[in-house]
Amino acid sequence: METTHRVFVGDSRALESVDDESVELVVTSPPYPMIEMWDDLFTSLDPAVGEALEAGDGRAAFEGMHAQLDAVWDELERVLVDGGLVCLNVGDATRSLEESFRVYPNHARVLEAFEARGFDPLPDVLWRKPANSAAKFMGSGMIPPNAYVTLEHEYVLVFRKGAESREFEPGADQRYEAAYFWEERNQWFSDVWTDVQGELQSLADGRDEDIRDRSGAYPLEIPYRLICMYSAYGDTVLDPFWGTGTTTLAAMCAGRDSLGSELEDAFLEVFTDRIDDVSTLSHAVARARLERHREFVTRRREDGETFEYEATHYETPVVTKMERDIRFHEVASVDSISQNSDDEYGYRVEHAPLSE
Ligand SMILES: C[S@@+](CC[C@H](N)C(=O)[O-])C[C@H]1O[C@@H](n2cnc3c(N)ncnc32)[C@H](O)[C@@H]1O
Repeated sequence: METTHRVFVGDSRALESVDDESVELVVTSPPYPMIEMWDDLFTSLDPAVGEALEAGDGRAAFEGMHAQLDAVWDELERVLVDGGLVCLNVGDATRSLEESFRVYPNHARVLEAFEARGFDPLPDVLWRKPANSAAKFMGSGMIPPNAYVTLEHEYVLVFRKGAESREFEPGADQRYEAAYFWEERNQWFSDVWTDVQGELQSLADGRDEDIRDRSGAYPLEIPYRLICMYSAYGDTVLDPFWGTGTTTLAAMCAGRDSLGSELEDAFLEVFTDRIDDVSTLSHAVARARLERHREFVTRRREDGETFEYEATHYETPVVTKMERDIRFHEVASVDSISQNSDDEYGYRVEHAPLSE
């Protein structure tokens, strides 16, 4: 199996290099409005944002920042196929301006923006980040009423373009081979994720933590899981806020095509380092899924349960008929491919079936 991955250095408010209705899934995390690390970026996109911040007008700054994201949402509406899905990781912001503290509800503003563009919201996921400090509480300590709850969660908002789901031929291989295990379904389709810093993240390379601090990168587990949940083999996954390319890395591991667009060309260098290890990473990710499944099988048998079905490509039983054809791939080779301009980068990835 072969996949292609293209990245454009440019502004996603005009995704000129991406054709109409050519994308099945968007997985992304925008810069979060009203989080200070993105003030300069939003001000460079619209100087009025900086003026509003200077004037202490939080509402105008919040709206001005979201107006920049809205232009990208317009482009997603154009490039997605009917029934295509958007998975959008976003967190709310808390901030004091002119000495007044409040929350800026990014998730609610994004939800309104997608509904206004004809997307249907689907059930979302709360991603709970691990709490790491007892000194995290804000406000007046132990005395009521002016202390504030700490935000320790982010959202993965999910939208479908239009009212209808995508259709597939009955028994289509690209869907059945992309199946996930029954026990993965139970974990992944829960609406609260507390385990995203788990095993898969430790398989990603050790530079990830530092990269995340500097670029707002999300853990590999988030796009990997979403790609497995919401796309089939042969689909194209787009990230219009590409950053260090975590979505593309996840798409390579999951065996899907990908497209990315990013303003900062400096991040491309970070990505070049990251794909050096993608063969090892993709092997480890797929192996870990199979191993975890076999541990699940052992536990279930110990509990006296039996299995009715055998997997076709691996020596293991599965719970349901739908999982039988599940098939993992690992990256065998990555080659650069030439693109139409200096602002485009492309990779052709050869995938091999997972070696047992
Ligand atoms: C939260 S970061 C995404 C990080 C990414 N998920 C990762 O794992 O590295 C948001 C990214 O969007 C980029 N960005 C912001 N506005 C953009 C725009 N209009 N067009 C393209 N990229 C943009 C920023 O430069 C930043 O790298």
